[in-house]
Amino acid sequence: MEIISNSTAPFIEKAARALICGGLVAFPTETVYGLGADATNKDAVSRIYAVKGRPTSHPLIVHISSINHLHNWVRDVPTYAIKLAKVFWPGPMTLILPRSEVAQDFITGGQDNVGIRVPSHTVALALLKEFEAQGGLGVVAPSANRFGKVSPTTSRSVRSEIGKNLTVNDLILEGGLSSIGLESTIIDCTQASPTILRPGAITSAMVRRSLKSESELKEIKIFNSAVRAPGMLKSHYSPNGKVFLSGDPMPGDGLIALSTVVTPLGVERLASPKNNNEYAQLLYEALRLADEKHIKNIFIVPPVGFGIVEAINDRLKKCSYKISKLDLST
Ligand code: TXA
Ligand code: MG
Repeated sequence: MEIISNSTAPFIEKAARALICGGLVAFPTETVYGLGADATNKDAVSRIYAVKGRPTSHPLIVHISSINHLHNWVRDVPTYAIKLAKVFWPGPMTLILPRSEVAQDFITGGQDNVGIRVPSHTVALALLKEFEAQGGLGVVAPSANRFGKVSPTTSRSVRSEIGKNLTVNDLILEGGLSSIGLESTIIDCTQASPTILRPGAITSAMVRRSLKSESELKEIKIFNSAVRAPGMLKSHYSPNGKVFLSGDPMPGDGLIALSTVVTPLGVERLASPKNNNEYAQLLYEALRLADEKHIKNIFIVPPVGFGIVEAINDRLKKCSYKISKLDLST
């Protein structure tokens, strides 16, 4: 497996060709790095599941280069979904829509809908455009981590997560630290009004503002949705260490908090973001650092406020879930 840090045309062409030929290409997006495969190639897609160790019932998001390619993948798109796509694409938003016959069971987990996203990272967009120019229709790309683990936000982290499972026909594209750092907002658009299944950088307030009178946005519990919701397993977004969202760290424990929080003596500071956006951007790398340093207890001071804070706290809750369960049972 080769790592490509040059995003000039010949290298993008090479990466697109690798996808067309059935290889896997990990690539940067503004949210997290994805592990890409031709969404119409059953064998390539099955390798994604194998490399990630992910159950095949979990559907994959199809990435396309623009709203103009949406019609290939979906049918019966509600007006509000078109509006959301026009406002927030390219960007950190995935729409779940009724699928066309192009979206086969091996990417949707057998569901009659499919997730679609147009990412904004220049390398991702260049790759998708070139893939389409070479005859491709779309690239499925889950986060490029082992199942249940933290999503990678650098090419180095992709390599340490799944590098050993890739072959000589696969590639990793390097594109710097992902600017947002948390996975896309997922919006179920299969009903009369939209439902947010996974919070992200596109917040419920932004969605509501963009739709205004269009239709009412339900403030949604993921469990209410008719479709399968992301991140519902106990061990989602988990580092190896235990995550505590309250209490005081002892010497040798790890700490993630805004830079205004002082590090107690002997505690390993894992990240000191200056604001909430930087908090989102650095969180996953900080959790990885904890694992690299074999830190057993990770204390995290959750951010307060609005906007991206919704998404940060969603992920924090999920990565600390197993501990709160454990606490309850003992
Ligand atoms: O930001 C992102 O969305 C990244 C980048 C690479 O684009 N991708 C990503 O994919 O996070 P993944 O597979 O790691 O997470 C997508 C989540 C999964 O939990 C999956 O089960 C859910 O979204 N999902 C995908 N398609 C779905 C569908 N049709 N209905 C319900 N949930 C779906
Ligand atoms: Mg994922």
